[in-house]
Amino acid sequence: MAEKPWDGRFSEKTDRSVELFTSSIDIDKRLYAHDIDGSIAHCRMLGRQGIIAEEEADTLIQGLGVIKREIQRGRFEFDHALEDIHMHIETRLFQEVGKTAQKLHTARSRNDQVALDTRLYVREQTQAVIDLLVALQRVLVRLAEKHIDAIMPGYTHLQRAQPILLSHHLMAYTEMFRRDECRFSDSLKRTDVLPLGSAALAGTTYPIDRLFVAEQLHFREVSANSIDAVSDRDFVLEFLSNAAICMVHLSRLSEELVMWSSMEFGFIEISDAFATGSSIMPQKKNPDVAELVRGKTGRVFGAMIAVFTLMKSLPLAYNRDMQEDKPQLFDACDTLKACLSIMARMLPAIRFRKERMREAATRGFLNATDFADYLTAKGMAFREAHGCAGKAVAYALSQNRELDELSLEELKSISSLIGEDIYEVLKPERMIERRLSVGGTSFRNVLAAINEAQGRLGMQPDEPAMEANTSTKAAGSSAAHEETGKG
Ligand code: ARG
Repeated sequence: MAEKPWDGRFSEKTDRSVELFTSSIDIDKRLYAHDIDGSIAHCRMLGRQGIIAEEEADTLIQGLGVIKREIQRGRFEFDHALEDIHMHIETRLFQEVGKTAQKLHTARSRNDQVALDTRLYVREQTQAVIDLLVALQRVLVRLAEKHIDAIMPGYTHLQRAQPILLSHHLMAYTEMFRRDECRFSDSLKRTDVLPLGSAALAGTTYPIDRLFVAEQLHFREVSANSIDAVSDRDFVLEFLSNAAICMVHLSRLSEELVMWSSMEFGFIEISDAFATGSSIMPQKKNPDVAELVRGKTGRVFGAMIAVFTLMKSLPLAYNRDMQEDKPQLFDACDTLKACLSIMARMLPAIRFRKERMREAATRGFLNATDFADYLTAKGMAFREAHGCAGKAVAYALSQNRELDELSLEELKSISSLIGEDIYEVLKPERMIERRLSVGGTSFRNVLAAINEAQGRLGMQPDEPAMEANTSTKAAGSSAAHEETGKG
C-alpha cells in the first residue's frame, strides 16, 4: 500500500473502505495535464525566487514532463490509496527524481492546487464550448441563407399564427446561441483568475511571486483574497448555468426537429445518416439524435443543481464536499459539447420540404391579422377591423374555405371597404414583405440579419452551401418573392 504524503501524524493505516470512499482519482485523473502544467509553473517560480535551488526546480520540471508523457501513453498506474491526481503525481515524482520531489509542494496546498486545476480546465473547456457555439451559429446562418425564400407558418401556442420565413426562424436560434456565446465569454473573464499562492487558505510565508505564475499560465489576474480563492467555485456554477441555458436552447431546437419530422408536420426530413430505425416497425425512421439532445438536457440541469446544492451553506474556506463538483462538471461539459457538435453536423443534412411548409402557411387563416390591418389602412379602427376579420373567418370556416378563397361579393358583404386589392394583401409573400419593423420577418430584415451574422462570425461570402446566393440577392425584390415556395 502506498504511503500517504499526509500520514505523519497518523499511527493507524486508513481503512480500505475509507480510501475507496474518499478517493477521487477515477474522476480527477482527467486533470493530470492541468495539474502538471500548474506544478511546472509553480516550480519555475520557486526556483526563480530562490525558495528552492534552480537545479532542483529543473529536476522537478523534467520529472513532471516524464510523468505527463507516461499518463498520456496510458503507462501510469493509478491507486485509490493515493486519493487524487495531485498525490499520484507527487508520489510518482518521488520515484522518478527522489527526495527533491518533496520540495514540490513548498508554499502550496492541495486546496489552491485543485482550485487552479479546475480553473484551468473550465477555462480550456469554456473556449472549446465557445468554438462549438460559433460553429453551430455558422451552420444556422448558412441554412438561413440557403433557404432564405422558404415560407412557413409561425406559431404561438403551437397554433398557426402568421406566415414567417424559415430563415427568420433559424436566425432566432442563431440569436440564442449568440447569447450563449456571450455568456460563456463573459464568465471566462471571472474564470481566468489565478488562485495558486493562496495555499491552504491564509496565504504563505514564502516570498512567492504570484504574478510570475499567472504570466506562466496565461491568467489575466491573480485572486485578491486567499480565503475566497480556495472556497470559490462560482466559475463552476457559472459554467454549469450557462451550459443549462444553452441546453434549453438545444432542447427547443430538438423538439422542433422532432415535431417537424413527424408525418403530422412533414416539414423536414432528417437524413438517414442522422436517424435510426425501429427493431419492430420496418417503416420507422426516428429522430433519435434530436430526442437524445432533448433528453440529455435534464442531465446538465441535474449537474447544475447538484453543484448549487453542494456549494450552498458551505462555511469558508475549503471543504472536502467540493470534491463532488468534478463529476458533475465533467459530465455536463462532455454532454454539452457532444450535443453542440452533433447538432452542427445534423442540421446541414436536413431536407426542408418547402412546398409543405408554404402550403401549411396558406391553411388556417394565418392572414386574418393582415385582413384586419387592411381594413385599418382603409380607415376602420383596429378593434372594429379585428371584429370584421373574425366574422370573415367564421364565415369562411362555415364554407370550409380560406379568406382569400371568398369572392369579392362575399367579402364586400362583410365590409364595403374591401376591394379587389385585398387578394394581393393576403398572400403569404406580401404579408412577410410588409413586416419591416426592426426584427420582423421581412426578407430585407432577415437578409440584413444574415449579413450581420456572417460578418460577426467571420464567414467567407463564398463558403459552401450558398447555392441560394442568387435568389438571396434578388430576394429584396417582389419578383423573387413570387418564386418563393414554388420549389
Ligand atoms: N481531491 C480534492 C478535491 O477535489 C483535492 C483537495 C483536497 N484537499 C484536502 N485538503 N483534502 O477537492
